[in-house]
Amino acid sequence: MRNTCLITGTSRGIGRELAAAFAGEYYVIGLSRSPASITLPDYEHHVVDLSDEDALKEKLQKILDQHPDISVLVNNAATLHSLPLAVMDEAHIDAMVKVNLLSPIYCTRSVIRRMIHNKRGRILNVSSMAPQRLVPGDSVYAATKAALETFARIVNAEVASANIRVNCLAISAYESGMLEKIVAGDVKKVTQHIPHGKLTTIDEIIAAARYLLSFDHHDIGGQTIRLGGV
Ligand SMILES: NC(=O)c1ccc[n+]([C@@H]2O[C@H](COP(=O)([O-])OP(=O)(O)OC[C@H]3O[C@@H](n4cnc5c(N)ncnc54)[C@H](OP(=O)(O)O)[C@@H]3O)[C@@H](O)[C@H]2O)c1
Repeated sequence: MRNTCLITGTSRGIGRELAAAFAGEYYVIGLSRSPASITLPDYEHHVVDLSDEDALKEKLQKILDQHPDISVLVNNAATLHSLPLAVMDEAHIDAMVKVNLLSPIYCTRSVIRRMIHNKRGRILNVSSMAPQRLVPGDSVYAATKAALETFARIVNAEVASANIRVNCLAISAYESGMLEKIVAGDVKKVTQHIPHGKLTTIDEIIAAARYLLSFDHHDIGGQTIRLGGV
């Protein structure tokens, strides 16, 4: 049985790579503000601003009307503004809380109702090393990721009897637009916080995501896999 998979943040970076890797294996539905940057037979793209709660709920309803069988969700999209809290403006705080935490909550709530009905679901939240590394400037970003991990553990317990598992994959650092924002070419700035001393690769990310999303296991839920030995 082929699963339908909803992935947020597929216009670039890790989300785009996951969508490209999973299309075929799953029927993939991607979301972002920008239009699609991949064209594949088993991929459809929807434009939505995840920080706009009403627009997101309306979009999710439309998608679920067309795809009531969504059995896989990857909450990948996030935004990062790294600044000491004292000088961070409210728009950046708002954006991080809305995109990184509220939108995964609403996406999960929407799809999980169908998953419970269908007794089948796998949900993956993309987290970060930020809650472990405690880097100055990352207070709000790290708080959204820590909250997402706690959210995942509790939802996993709520829906376990319906054959649904909710897990997290905490990325150390991967060469993408988000990383470039922090390091501006100086990769050592970030690898010094990673026990394995290097950036992770897209192959490692895809392999860990594929494992956590697999329907072959039934006893792995409420967990976070941390890349980079963090
Ligand atoms: N890269 C790293 O080193 C690293 C490290 C730790 C954790 N992570 C996590 O990995 C995930 C992916 O990161 P990435 O590096 O691939 O980021 P990225 O290159 O900045 O891509 C972010 C994606 O999220 C989408 N997005 C952002 N704000 C959105 C909004 N308001 N509405 C809809 N879509 C939105 C973007 O699309 P649009 O701009 O088109 O909307 C884009 O497709 C995130 O959860 C991030 O926290 C990454």
